[in-house]
Amino acid sequence: MKTYRIASVPGDGIGVDVTVEARKVLDRAAGKFGFSLSWTEFDWSCERYTRTGSMMPDDGVEQLSAFDAILLGAVGFPGVPDHVSLWGLLIPVRRAFAQYVNLRPVRLLPGTTSVLAGRKAEELEMVIVRENSEGEYSAIGGRHNTGQPSEFVLQESVFTRVGVERIIRYAFELARTREGRVCSATKSNGLIHSMPFWDEIFAEVAAEFPEVHSEQCHVDALAARMVQAPERLDVVVASNLFGDILSDLAAAITGGLGMAPSGNINPSGEHPSMFEAVHGSAPDIAGQGIANPVAQILAAAMMLEHLGETVAAQAIRAAVDRTLGDRTAVTPDLGGTATTARLGSVVADQLA
Ligand code: NAI
Ligand code: MG
Repeated sequence: MKTYRIASVPGDGIGVDVTVEARKVLDRAAGKFGFSLSWTEFDWSCERYTRTGSMMPDDGVEQLSAFDAILLGAVGFPGVPDHVSLWGLLIPVRRAFAQYVNLRPVRLLPGTTSVLAGRKAEELEMVIVRENSEGEYSAIGGRHNTGQPSEFVLQESVFTRVGVERIIRYAFELARTREGRVCSATKSNGLIHSMPFWDEIFAEVAAEFPEVHSEQCHVDALAARMVQAPERLDVVVASNLFGDILSDLAAAITGGLGMAPSGNINPSGEHPSMFEAVHGSAPDIAGQGIANPVAQILAAAMMLEHLGETVAAQAIRAAVDRTLGDRTAVTPDLGGTATTARLGSVVADQLA
């Protein structure tokens, strides 16, 4: 029997609650589909930071490198500044493992009320390919003349030819397996150095894929289009910042953050990939047992798909669809009264 070694990093807040449920569903799927999962749990979190002064040990990345995949909850909690929690755990892992693709599938799930109510699932199905290793999220810059009237900050963006080209190529290759359409998010009218460079490389790569329809759209207009005409979008490729914002919007139009999964993919397979929900640690509802675990369960299904367990991944998605479709157990964000644990258990039962 095939065994996968999985590192689980539940992190903070509801990251812990939803990871328990994802693990419940995965273990059930493993039993049913003939593979096994060997879990190792890490307590890396803001709580650890408060205790020891660091989010993870110095050799944290090295420890994770031994695993086939990583399932991450969420990191960040009031009391620890967000840049500390993010740069102390999430960003170093994404970068050390060259997880340069942040893949965010968007799908209108059954039983969900969207601001786009009346749309059918097939009209609202796209995937956002977000650049995950450079771009606007850079540590280059600084704060100067602190406390003076002339105080200013510089926050630089970094766009490399290698980085831009590989994410765009990934998007085109993915489009070939889907509807064959790629839309690039740009803003070359405002960001006059980085985005024209991005656009130029997009055009070069597009020329290599004549069978894929390509277009570019300013990110603000694209945000509007995502709401008004989502049926015209299939694969959306975007820089780190633009992809981050567009995917929260995409989550909002498909019923909320509680439903949106994401994968940090190392396409070469040289390093482990990491799977997580799009949402954060939701301190406003943490510890109440009411977080929606669907995003994390679907992230776990993406992990199985990545490991090659396609049938089990598909079964988990179908179990989620059935559970939400007949509304047997839905959490308060979806207008129900079920707890996190009950929704997780019903999805697991639907597998059997
Ligand atoms: P958030 O995603 O944690 O919460 C935003 C809103 O959505 C809240 O009202 C929350 O209750 C609701 N929500 C989120 N997930 C939900 C779920 N599964 N079920 C029901 N409701 C849900 O974003 P926020 O509040 O901006 O950030 C909170 C903390 O999380 C911060 O420290 C932030 O840095 C961190 N964060 C971490 C991320 C990660 O680990 N990848 C991503 C985003 C934020
Ligand atoms: Mg985000």
